[in-house]
Amino acid sequence: MIDLRSDTVTKPTQAMLAAMTVAELGDDVLGDEPTVALLEERVADLLGKDAAMYVPSGTMANQCAVGAQLRSGQMLILEASAHIYLYEAGAPGALWGAHTNLVPATGGALTWAQIEAALPPDDVHFAEPALVCLENTANKAGGRILNQQDVVTIGREAQALGLRVHLDGARLWNAHVASGLSMAELCAPVNTVSVCFSKALGAPVGSCLAGDAAMIKRARRLRKRLGGGMRQSGLLAAACLFAMEHQLERLAEDHAHARRIVAELDNSLLSVDHPVDTNIVMVDVKEPGSAESLLAHLADRDIGALSLGPGRVRLIPNLEVSAQDMDTVLATLNDYRGDAA
Ligand SMILES: Cc1ncc(COP(=O)(O)O)c(C=O)c1O
Repeated sequence: MIDLRSDTVTKPTQAMLAAMTVAELGDDVLGDEPTVALLEERVADLLGKDAAMYVPSGTMANQCAVGAQLRSGQMLILEASAHIYLYEAGAPGALWGAHTNLVPATGGALTWAQIEAALPPDDVHFAEPALVCLENTANKAGGRILNQQDVVTIGREAQALGLRVHLDGARLWNAHVASGLSMAELCAPVNTVSVCFSKALGAPVGSCLAGDAAMIKRARRLRKRLGGGMRQSGLLAAACLFAMEHQLERLAEDHAHARRIVAELDNSLLSVDHPVDTNIVMVDVKEPGSAESLLAHLADRDIGALSLGPGRVRLIPNLEVSAQDMDTVLATLNDYRGDAA
């Protein structure tokens, strides 16, 4: 199967498995897991933060960030299509009592002016704003890279008002490779950042949350409360270290494959109506086509994709998809004929 459903579908390579089998192991809950400690140190350095914490998933990294930086009843401000709001099972409200203030923005990219306009007056009737969450790249918007000047302004202005800023950087790796900005530059304006190793980077499990030392200390207690304290997790951390070292710069290939879809798509029923900044492509299907029939057509040729709402199909080139596979994908998209197909 040519699996373009997500960049999470990749399996560990033989070289990654080999790196896992020689990892030095300990017990991370008891505080002596050398490979996890090494990963956390490398990630903190790379992101330019004091400290980092390894967790099983991007969701847990984001939720530890929310829980550590907001009290029940305080306001969480985020873009309306943010993963933290849409796809984390209602966690900000359910776990931390966050009062969510959603601000819709084109391309998933908030500006300070939009955030400022959404802030309530300093009046007892309103929830007290505590945390702004950004997402880079913005998944639902099609892997869009945030304008870094906007991120800098948001960080500066929000912090001047006593708010904190968290960046959901599940795919910050892609923003780094596509923009040429370093991971540390991308993270400098925000207080905390989550990164995922099991998305485009190709590791099987895990994410890190990075930030200042006091915040990461608080987040470690929340990780334990959520059941995220792991033991010989160096086995998994070794895969993440391998992915950072050997599978980061190759993301440029995924981006080139995504751009090919836009450049070579030649079918009046299909269009890509967003700028393709990184590895995510949203294909819009016109009638008499539909997302379901396009998925069925792709499945007939053993190509996997995901429906992302009526008339929209998401394709994500990834580590396991070759240039030749992309030839097949493009030929298949171009011979789609709608519901009759
Ligand atoms: C932008 C973004 N943030 C967070 C997550 C959550 O990651 P996980 O599935 O590891 O919980 C995802 C998952 O796809 C994501 O796309």
